[in-house]
Amino acid sequence: MMQRKLALLVGITTFTLLLVLRWEHVIRLVSLMRSEIPSAESEPQTDQPSAEPTLPPWQRAPTETITPIPGSRHFMVSAFKDHRRGGVIRVISIICRQELQPLYCVLCANDDANTDANANASPNAKANGRCMTSQAKVDIHSDHFGFPFHTSDVFCTTTTSQQALYEQASYVSITSDKNTTDNMTFLTIQNHEIKESFKYKFTICISNLFGGYNNALQFAQTMEVYKLIGVQRVVIYNTSCGPDVEKVLRYYSREGMLEVVPWPIDKFLTPSTGWRYDLHHGDIHYYGQLATLNECIYRYMYQSKYLLLNDIDEIIMPYKHGKLEKLMDTLQQQHPNAGVFRIENHIFPKTQFEDTGRFRLPQWRRVPGVNILEHIYREPDRKNVFNPTKLLIDPRRVERTSVHSTLNQFGPVVIVPFDVCRIIHVRAPLQGHLAKDQLLVDKKLWEFEKRLIPSIDNALNQSGL
Ligand SMILES: *[C@@H]1O[C@H](CO)[C@@H](O)[C@H](O)[C@H]1NC(C)=O
Ligand SMILES: *[C@@H]1O[C@H](CO)[C@@H](O)[C@H](O)[C@H]1NC(C)=O
Ligand SMILES: *[C@@H]1O[C@H](CO)[C@@H](O)[C@H](O)[C@H]1NC(C)=O
Repeated sequence: MMQRKLALLVGITTFTLLLVLRWEHVIRLVSLMRSEIPSAESEPQTDQPSAEPTLPPWQRAPTETITPIPGSRHFMVSAFKDHRRGGVIRVISIICRQELQPLYCVLCANDDANTDANANASPNAKANGRCMTSQAKVDIHSDHFGFPFHTSDVFCTTTTSQQALYEQASYVSITSDKNTTDNMTFLTIQNHEIKESFKYKFTICISNLFGGYNNALQFAQTMEVYKLIGVQRVVIYNTSCGPDVEKVLRYYSREGMLEVVPWPIDKFLTPSTGWRYDLHHGDIHYYGQLATLNECIYRYMYQSKYLLLNDIDEIIMPYKHGKLEKLMDTLQQQHPNAGVFRIENHIFPKTQFEDTGRFRLPQWRRVPGVNILEHIYREPDRKNVFNPTKLLIDPRRVERTSVHSTLNQFGPVVIVPFDVCRIIHVRAPLQGHLAKDQLLVDKKLWEFEKRLIPSIDNALNQSGL
């Protein structure tokens, strides 16, 4: 027994050493700025125990989403090829606007792993790769609201002589010092291939979960409404949350509808809790909400036909069509080239309850959070106040987004009429002075009653609430 364990240990150590040595080999060559690396070395052993998911030190773990750029105060988030812009490599980043400095991309091609499917397949093959260094071009998004750190695109440039290698690159890292690649962390370049068919029709990107957010009942109810209107996937960027929401998140991840993306922005920066720098201070707008929204667009560009960019307590609800699919068929027929549809937000104050209490169900009494079925009163439009909008987009027609509108898109932007589709937003009132009879009755959610109640019960039960 002891001998077998010892042999295993020696095997693993040798393997790890091999990986490190081979990576140093690449580093040496990168610093020499050579574009060709001979790949005639002996293959690393592959018959190692599979219980060792060793990631080589240069590759970022899939659970990491925010990585400091060495020698700077900036951060890189994710890397994508953009086919709409001639295949340029874009690294979504968070840049300190006051401390701009020259940045460089180190791009590495992996001879047998040029596609999304196998880019992660064989980290060892990475050491056989070829690398290049090029100037990075930083493009800070325009909607920074005065905060020092902001979402940016870092574009990796190339020259004609490096074009072939650039196109094949499967890993990238940004650095401020082009002379050394010590301690660099490489991101996988995603979206290598254009896809015409998508795994999901409708995906919701929920930008941030933070603080002790524990509105579990509203969240579970909302998820079940989403299902009934045709949403197949929900993506949530998680900084932190309360214990009951945590249980619901775990249930939907298990069940498959939800992707939780870790977003530990508070480990790196002081996030602001509001959007005005002069009032709310902090390093970055709303926990980096804009970085996550833009990341989500590129993450799901070839996974979902449409994306809905809204908050956790908002439901983009078709009022004229039963489901989102019918709504979009109609809208897209009317506006064939449009990729951005703006949907008006409407407030349903959580302070006004419907009188009969028919949805004050005993099994929900102990679940923390707002019961959206009890809030059927909607605030009226105000003169001279625009209703803010949220977005329903074709991600392949959007390049950059803000919260209420896109910043750069391909094709027209459509403002969707209020009677066709609007947002049900149950929250604290904006016009708190209005009495119940000054509000409008809107029982849209009740139309789902039959299927909704049992599915909410099931979700809460399965979540252990
Ligand atoms: C990088 O190397 C060049 C040439 O050896 C040198 O001139 C330059 O100062 C170095 N830059 C840094 C940041 O060390
Ligand atoms: C959300 O993030 C917090 C803080 O990192 C973590 O404790 C929690 O487990 C995360 N929840 C999920 C469902 O990933
Ligand atoms: C909830 O789960 C328990 C077992 O964990 C089961 O006995 C009960 O019938 C379930 N209730 C509903 C409404 O699904």
